[in-house]
Amino acid sequence: MNVVILAAGMGKRMQSALPKVLHPLAGKPLLQHVIDTARSLKPSKLCVIYGHGGAAVPEMVAKLAESTGAAIDTALQQPQLGTGHAVMQAVPQIDENAPTLVLYGDVPLTTADSLQRLVEAAGKDKLAILTVEQANPFGLGRIVRENGNIVRIVEEKDANEAERAIREINSGIMVIPTSRLKSWLESLSNNNAQGEYYLTDIVAKAVAEGVPVVSAQPSAEWEVAGVNSKVQLAELERRHQLNIATALLEKGVTLMDPARIDVRGELVCGRDVVIDVGCVFEGRVEIADGVTIGPNCVLVNARIGAGAQIKPFCHIEDAVVGDKSQIGPYARLRPGTQLGEDVHVGNFVEIKNSTVAAHSKANHLAYVGDATVGSRVNIGAGTITCNYDGANKFRTVIEDDAFIGSDSQLVAPVTVGAGATLGAGTTLTKDAPAGKLTISRPKQMTIENWKRPVKVKK
Ligand code: UD1
Ligand code: CA
Repeated sequence: MNVVILAAGMGKRMQSALPKVLHPLAGKPLLQHVIDTARSLKPSKLCVIYGHGGAAVPEMVAKLAESTGAAIDTALQQPQLGTGHAVMQAVPQIDENAPTLVLYGDVPLTTADSLQRLVEAAGKDKLAILTVEQANPFGLGRIVRENGNIVRIVEEKDANEAERAIREINSGIMVIPTSRLKSWLESLSNNNAQGEYYLTDIVAKAVAEGVPVVSAQPSAEWEVAGVNSKVQLAELERRHQLNIATALLEKGVTLMDPARIDVRGELVCGRDVVIDVGCVFEGRVEIADGVTIGPNCVLVNARIGAGAQIKPFCHIEDAVVGDKSQIGPYARLRPGTQLGEDVHVGNFVEIKNSTVAAHSKANHLAYVGDATVGSRVNIGAGTITCNYDGANKFRTVIEDDAFIGSDSQLVAPVTVGAGATLGAGTTLTKDAPAGKLTISRPKQMTIENWKRPVKVKK
């Protein structure tokens, strides 16, 4: 099968410099949703028609093709003279012996199941149209039937009153016998209300030539909803998020409010996971059994181990949290963070490019960067690894069972030996030996007979 995706249109109502099909839905460009769905049908040829928006669309397509190692053709449509003219640009690139599925780059949520049904309805030599009965069909092409059979499609602007009363609409998605397509497209005229070459006019041509025209229906109306404005984009975003939330609920995840979760990527959850409101998941996030995620957390490309608790307002990116760990509230785990089992990271603690082994704790106000932290280490409040000298970064090593007193600065590169204790307020510039107390602090003294100054009378 060939798939041709129409994405040359202008998208004026988006009021944006970005081409319409590149606007993100659930963090992914509209066009990429369509390409991903198309690919799941394993087409032999995939061609994206672009035009408006310059090089941005083919660049995005090329990047996608490169990252997935599968070819996607593109064809320029310039100027844009209608949907029929758009499909014509793909003709030199598609396989004549396989049917052609036409999709729109701005209709992101059509399911592979519905498309599969349409493809099956078309078989080898029929023309099949994805149609929907719509309460308000205004603006859309109407399916005209005689004795139940489709005879043509008429656009809103060309329709008479009786035709405008028809509620069955053309989604625009159709499967066409490719061997006939070229001659049908070549014989299109633009003698209509919009002066365009309508793809929809091939339907009457098929009927005239005795090619059967059939239809299939999607499972839901939103599957064929297009994006023409930010309002419609926002509506489809909510619909898509609700679909994702429903799928999570069906798999047994507890969502405190399915209307208040945003998944912009892939979220994989184990059993008995609880997610509170206002959380955002980006990239690939894996959450193991029994994890709870508190309200208003952002997780990006993260893995959370079984039984871990993520308390409210945490930001976790490119990081791994070990089983039974407790994170937050207000913790930030930056890229390269790997926490072992039962690690506690408390409020206003930032960890970057560091490993922290089992049972270690940094409960309050700390910065741990470029560090290797052993097991059962206690990092006191206000501790800072000074990993950066303004030009280079260095590592800090804190071995098992060390105790770092509050408000210490560890000037890397530096090592705290196993079981060592740093006194509060230590500025560590040389290694601290294992098992001993190291402290860098002027001796405390008390000035006898000292008096507070008193205000001088004028
Ligand atoms: C089209 C259909 C209409 C259908 C509706 C569904 C035609 C003539 N009409 O109408 O029956 O109900 O879609 O939304 O086909 N495009 C190009 N090049 C062009 C023109 C359009 O690539 O020259 C692309 C657009 O980017 C878009 C798609 O084709 O992705 C549909 O274009 P649009 O202008 O939205 O079509 P409508 O006139 O709304
Ligand atoms: Ca449209």
